[in-house]
Amino acid sequence: GTPDIDASALTIEKTTAPKPLLDAKDLIFGRTFTDHMLSVEWTAQDGWLPPRITPYQNLSLDPATCVLHYAFTCFEGMKAYKDADDRIRLFRPDRNMHRLNRSSARIALPTFNHDTFIDLISKFVNLEERFIPKQKGYSLYLRPTMIGTQKTLGVGPPGSALLYLIASPVGPYYPTGFKAVTLEATEYAVRAWPGGVGDRKLGANYAPCIVPQIDAAKRGFQQNLWLFGEEGYVTEVGTMNMFVAWVNEEGVKELITAPLDGTILEGVTRESVLALARERLVPEGWQVSEKKFTMAQMKKAADEGRLLEAFGAGTAAVVSPIKGVSWRNQDIKIPLSPGKETGPLAEKFWNWISEIQYGETSHPWSYVV
Ligand code: COI
Repeated sequence: GTPDIDASALTIEKTTAPKPLLDAKDLIFGRTFTDHMLSVEWTAQDGWLPPRITPYQNLSLDPATCVLHYAFTCFEGMKAYKDADDRIRLFRPDRNMHRLNRSSARIALPTFNHDTFIDLISKFVNLEERFIPKQKGYSLYLRPTMIGTQKTLGVGPPGSALLYLIASPVGPYYPTGFKAVTLEATEYAVRAWPGGVGDRKLGANYAPCIVPQIDAAKRGFQQNLWLFGEEGYVTEVGTMNMFVAWVNEEGVKELITAPLDGTILEGVTRESVLALARERLVPEGWQVSEKKFTMAQMKKAADEGRLLEAFGAGTAAVVSPIKGVSWRNQDIKIPLSPGKETGPLAEKFWNWISEIQYGETSHPWSYVV
């Protein structure tokens, strides 16, 4: 094949107009960006070209560029954290690289060596260090993106591509502490289906999800819940993986999430919640399941007082507690801890995952750059 990315060929052009830092309280998710960006171009003929860090700038694309017509685009969401000793940490960056390569390969875009790109990300975040807020809950959101750049309306594999990284300083998802949300189960649209691409982080999976989200919001729900099939299988919540805790029909406390059957995004937070649950909850008598479950089962559990908790899991919020779901005009109420906007498990996972991300406890998932 053609050459892989060569991190040693990196060139750095620093900005001459450093941006002012915003007050932490003024940070809005994904609205402001750091001084620089990282770019690596690829051509079918020459493979990966030398990586470049340049001032953050507009892209210049011909109106016929294939990404603009046929959605040759995929991305990742990850974060850089600053620990108490001012070291910069990433969280399981290998998982994001693995997923980006899988997404990219699915839409005929090139793949690359994980470690090489992590090395480049490390150089980039070091350069942008002043943008990484230090307070717990704050971080620098990293957005690796890959697009097809060939100028052609012909439908075929892109002959050229651009892998780039931009970064946005972000605050905690819930600045005033947890805020449990209510969901509306979407009945008229599905997010993903067997044989589809719901397990890849393609741009094309996101745009069609906005209208159901707006519709749910119009009726007063913060998010929509994605179901699949006649059975009403529970799949994902908004842009997050969905977890439910209940006492199951066998009388066992169970933490359950949909299995990776090709319709579920392979969330890094999902995988981390499952691993921590198996390590720390199973010894307390919990069963941890990656298994299909339905709205009817959730409703029955609620009616019988067996429904314990529900939460979304994703990089942006870590966990997002859920206090209710509206489904076929029935309101399913989900318990929270007394006087709190979260249930006990969501709070536990938030604490466990955050302390690893901010290096408060030593763990192989935290990668010091
Ligand atoms: C997440 O981290 O939960 C997401 O997938 C959100 C991102 C698409 C902004």
